[in-house]
Amino acid sequence: MKPQIYGIVGHPLGHSLSPTLHNHWFCECGFENKLYCAWPIPPDKLDDFVRAVRLLPISGASVTIPHKETITPYLDELSPAARQVGAVNTLYWRGDSLAGENTDVCGFMAPLLAGGESINSALVLGAGGASRAVIHGLKEMGIKTTICNRSRDKAEAMAKDMKTDIISWEKRYSAQADLLVNTTPLGMHGDKTGGETPWEKDMRRIKTVYDIIYNPPCTPLLKQAEEEGKTVISGLEMFVGQAREQFRIWTGQKMDREPALTFLGKTLRGK
Ligand code: ATR
Repeated sequence: MKPQIYGIVGHPLGHSLSPTLHNHWFCECGFENKLYCAWPIPPDKLDDFVRAVRLLPISGASVTIPHKETITPYLDELSPAARQVGAVNTLYWRGDSLAGENTDVCGFMAPLLAGGESINSALVLGAGGASRAVIHGLKEMGIKTTICNRSRDKAEAMAKDMKTDIISWEKRYSAQADLLVNTTPLGMHGDKTGGETPWEKDMRRIKTVYDIIYNPPCTPLLKQAEEEGKTVISGLEMFVGQAREQFRIWTGQKMDREPALTFLGKTLRGK
């Protein structure tokens, strides 16, 4: 059996859970010839990396920060989602064409579509690359979206580009929204803001809180939301959602949501 190599390209890679999850699921499916690696590649080596993908038996790859946008010109084709978001998190082969897909959008939407909550409006904190995929998903679901970012100029650029409303960072507590989404790194393990929260008042105007940070699975923001009786969605849901779609693209097989979430929860607790 020919080996088939997959991996994640980013810089730095730090504590990526992708190798752990994909290798675990390759085993679960009995794919003995598939291996998923971690490739920390700096920006000035990205073109070499894409050449290597074309030369070696590399069947697919996950793409993460800082390459999600800069990798697009090196690819032969982009999916409609990747084109609209302007970012790629998945490489795969379509015949002889090296194609780019963005599974962050459907990964973000998955728990919202599966949940029974009626969500008509959303307040998104942060205006970076992750926020773009989130806003794209919200728009696709027809949810009225307001963007809020620490630096006003970035919020304005994003709001103009994505045609959303905008509220200043200082006024975020006065926004009325069914859904609050955090796309800032505040509360992320390993970040200088680990243990911090982007929300320091009560959540009386919010119904559901979604933090796209997956490590820790329960951030200070989600802990507060739980204590206030809100519906909470952990970033692990989005992480598993985007990985499930990658696995389907690469193998045609299904990665089951529940066991994947349980496996990652245990992995993170064991760290
Ligand atoms: P990514 O591309 O992964 O989304 P990013 O570009 O670093 O990451 O974006 C993170 C977002 O979180 C940015 O919009 C950033 O706000 P600024 O535009 O003002 O930099 C926001 N962010 C980062 N640290 C923050 C902090 N300590 N408080 C509030 N917002 C923060």
